[in-house]
Order: sequence, then C-alpha cells, then structure tokens
Amino acid sequence: MRIAILLSGAGTTMQAIAEAITSARLNIEIVAVCSDNPKAQGIALARDIGLKTEVLDYQRANTREDFCNAFSSCIESYQPDYLILAGFMRILTASFINQFKSKIINIHPSLLPKYKGLNTHRRALESGDSEHGSSVHLVTEVLDDGPIIAQAITPIQANIQFNEEQTQALEQKVKALEKVLYPLCLTWLANKRIAFHSGEVQLDGRKLPKTGMQYDEVSLKKAWEEERLKCN
Ligand code: GAR
Repeated sequence: MRIAILLSGAGTTMQAIAEAITSARLNIEIVAVCSDNPKAQGIALARDIGLKTEVLDYQRANTREDFCNAFSSCIESYQPDYLILAGFMRILTASFINQFKSKIINIHPSLLPKYKGLNTHRRALESGDSEHGSSVHLVTEVLDDGPIIAQAITPIQANIQFNEEQTQALEQKVKALEKVLYPLCLTWLANKRIAFHSGEVQLDGRKLPKTGMQYDEVSLKKAWEEERLKCN
C-alpha cells in the first residue's frame, strides 16, 4: 500500500507510522510526506529519516482553492493508495476530498463525535468527562465527521483539577495511544480488511458500530501485538 502522509506540525505521528512500518515489516510504503507549512518540524524529521518530502506554503496561496488544487496535483503525482493525515491542520476543499474519495484517513484527538475542531484535550477536561481519546476516521466533506474505523480510550481521573499541566498530560497520554492506534488501522487498510459503504465501515466484511472498533490501552497493545505477529 502506497501512502502519502500529510502533516502541519511536529510529525511525531508520522514518525511513529514510519517506525511501525520498519519494526513490524508492514507492507506499506510512505511515498511522500507533504506539508502546508515550511516550518513544520515533521518535514525536517521526515528528511532525516530519508523520506521524500513536499512543501506547499499555505500562506503563499491566494485562496484555499488554489492551495488545494496545487497540493492535490503534487500528491497525485505520487499515486498514493491513501492520504494519511497526521496532524494536518488545514481544512481541505470539497473538490480535494472528492478527488481522493474514500482514500483520505485522519486521526483526530477526541472520541468523535465529541469535540470536533481544536483544543480537544482542554474541552474534555473542562467538561468533566470521565474518558477521552482519539479516533481514526475516513475524511468526508464535513469536518471531523466521517465514518470511524477505530477509537482508543483513556480514562480521566474523577474530580481532576483543570489546568495547563493536566491538559498537557492528557495530550501526551492520547498521543501515546495514537502511535499504536494509527499503525493498527493502517495494517487493516494495507491488508484490504476495511471497506467503506454508504457511510459505514466494514472490517472483514462485518459492519462496525458508529464508534468503530474501541480499545483501551491494554486491549490496544494486545491487538497491535497480534497484528505484528501476523505481519512478521
Ligand atoms: C495528533 O495528536 C493528532 O491527533 C492531531 O494532531 C496531533 C499531531 O501531532 N490531529 C488533529 O488535531 C487533527 N484535527 P504530531 O504533529 O506530533 O504528529
């Protein structure tokens, strides 16, 4: 499976995917790492690990349409099977999404449909939620709304005091789960075990619930270990 990874920031998710591909010998090739942000640390990181990179500065485009048209042409030239959004923070146009219909996958740091958009960790804490997490989903024209493949869940301690430190700690917990959840979902895609049908996700021919497959930290690790064994 050929994937293009799209990112805007630090690139730790991209790095985790690249490491999982190598360590578990996944049948996945990262054909390009593409960014809208010339200052993205993830681009420097991708170059360091020898990946092909493409940067199209969003700030230099006249409109979102211009950016997305140029970005899509650039990505298309790599003929990826999937576009993997890994901390890509630009809203894509409907025409971009339709050009790669059913081929764009995103990871969003919340238990969707909760907390679409930004500041998800802070919002989960402020709301006094008992759990939080991350979702891997198909990208559709509606922001953070596409069919969910899987979610990783972490508990939030009761009566926890909301402050910046707690927010960062929660973010780190979620990010650690994401680094297992995303590679797991990518192996399913690479092994053609996932299908999207009229707003639903199927895994091995079975329709998944609206939340996708759900894991806590322990069951996620177990699922990934089982997948690794199959790959090796
Ligand atoms: C990840 O937590 C990912 O879920 C989030 O950005 C982070 C990227 O981290 N994505 C979004 O918020 C998309 N709406 P990274 O730059 O270290 O890979």
